[in-house]
Amino acid sequence: MWGGRFGGGPSVIMQQINASIPVDKRLWREDIAGSKAHACMLAAQGILSAEDAAAIIDGLDRISEEFDTQGVPERMDLEDIHMTVEHRLSELIGPAAGRLHTARSRNDQVATDFKLWTKRMAARMADAIAELQTVLVARAEEHAGTIMPGFTHLQVAQPVTLGHHLLAYVEMLARDHARFRQVTTLAGECPLGAAALAGTGFAIDRESTARTLGFDKPTANSLDSVSDRDFALDFLSAASLCSLHLSRLAEELILWASPPFGFARLSDDWSTGSSIMPQKRNPDAAELVRGHSGRIVGLFTGLMITMKGLPLAYSKDMQDDKAPTFEAADLLELSLAALAGTVESVTFNPERMRALAESGYATATDLADWLVREAGIPFREAHHITGRAVKAAEEHECDLAGLSLEQLQAIDERIDARVYDVLSVEASVASRTSYGGTAPVRVREQVARWKERLG
Ligand code: ARG
Repeated sequence: MWGGRFGGGPSVIMQQINASIPVDKRLWREDIAGSKAHACMLAAQGILSAEDAAAIIDGLDRISEEFDTQGVPERMDLEDIHMTVEHRLSELIGPAAGRLHTARSRNDQVATDFKLWTKRMAARMADAIAELQTVLVARAEEHAGTIMPGFTHLQVAQPVTLGHHLLAYVEMLARDHARFRQVTTLAGECPLGAAALAGTGFAIDRESTARTLGFDKPTANSLDSVSDRDFALDFLSAASLCSLHLSRLAEELILWASPPFGFARLSDDWSTGSSIMPQKRNPDAAELVRGHSGRIVGLFTGLMITMKGLPLAYSKDMQDDKAPTFEAADLLELSLAALAGTVESVTFNPERMRALAESGYATATDLADWLVREAGIPFREAHHITGRAVKAAEEHECDLAGLSLEQLQAIDERIDARVYDVLSVEASVASRTSYGGTAPVRVREQVARWKERLG
C-alpha cells in the first residue's frame, strides 16, 4: 500500500519487525467504526460520492461480520489492522475502497482506534471494580461485628472489626474507580482528521466524526493528536495503582489463610493442592494477583520509557504502545475477577481472630484512655502505667482483663473496678465511634452507604 517508490519488497525480517497485526488486530471493531464514521463524513461533505460511500459502508459491515465469526486474518505483509481492513475492503468492493483513505492517515487512524478501545476498556475496568466492591461490602456487612486484631507494623495494635478492615479496600477501590472514569473523561477529544501530522486540505468535518464516535469534540492540534498516548499511560497508571491495591488485599488473604494466622480458609475453588505435600492448600489465585501487579507496573513503566524521548509527531516506536496496554487490561480484569471470587467464597474464622485480638494486649490503648478520662492522668503517664500493666499480664500469662483488681491497683492505686468495662475487645471496638471508626455501628452505616451507592 505504500510501495509506489520502492523497487523491491521488504526483507523477511523487516516484515517481522514492522508488522503489528498479531497485536493490533484487537482494534478491529474500533477500526471499522472509525472508517465508517470517516466515510459518512466524506460523503456528507461531498468529498466522496454517495455510491462509493454506500459501497464502502456495506463492505465494512461485511468485514465486521466476517471478523466476528471467523476472526481477523494475520497477514504479515499487510502490516496492521488498518491495512488488513482496507485490503479486504478492496477485495470486496474493488477500487472504490481506495477512496476511503482520503483526508486521513494511519497516524490519526491508529490514535483514534486506540483511544476508543482505551475508553471502552476503562469503563469495563470501572465495572469490574464495582463488582469487587459489591462482594467486599456484602462480606463486610456479614462481619460488621466480628472482632479481629488490627495491626500496625504487623504487630497487634488495637482490636478492629473485620467489616471495617474489608471496607478499607472498598474505599481504595472507589479511588481506582474514579481514576478509570477520569481516563475516559480525559480521552474525550477525537484525533481523527489530524491526518498524518499537519491536518488536511480537504473540507472535512471533524466535529461530526468526533460526535459519531462518541467523543466530546475533535482535538485542537494535529501534531499533538498523532503523538499523544497520554490516554494509554493514564489507563496504565490507573491500572498500576488498582493492581497495587489488589496486591495488598491478596497479600492479606495469603497471610490470613496461612495456618499460623488461621483467620481464613480459602474455598477449594480458589486454592490448589501441592503435588507432594497433601496437607497444603495453596492460595495460588491470590498469589498470582499479587504477582500480576508487578507485571502491570512494569508494563506502565515500559510505555513511559518508550514515550519519553520521542520528538513530535508520530514515530514507529509508538506501535509498541498497544501490547503493554492490552496485556495490563487483561491482567487487571482477571485479577479483579479472581479476587472477587476469592473474597466471595472465603470462610473467616471469628473465634481465631478474636483469640488473637485478646492475646495481643490489643486493649492497652483503652486502658491508657480510661486512665486519662476517669482518673485525670496525663496521657504520657497513663501510657507508662499501661506499659507496666502489660508487663504484669505477660508475667501472669493472661490478657489485661485477666489481671485482678489488686494486681492492677498495685501498679496504680487510682485504678478501680470500672476499668474492666473497657478492657474487653468488644468494649474497645464499640467505643471507637468517631466518624470513620471501627465501631460496629459505624461500620453498618458505611455498609448502608456503600450498598446504596453500588446499587
Ligand atoms: N501500526 C501502526 C501503529 O500501530 C499504525 C500507524 C502507522 N503509521 C505509519 N505511518 N507507519 O502505530
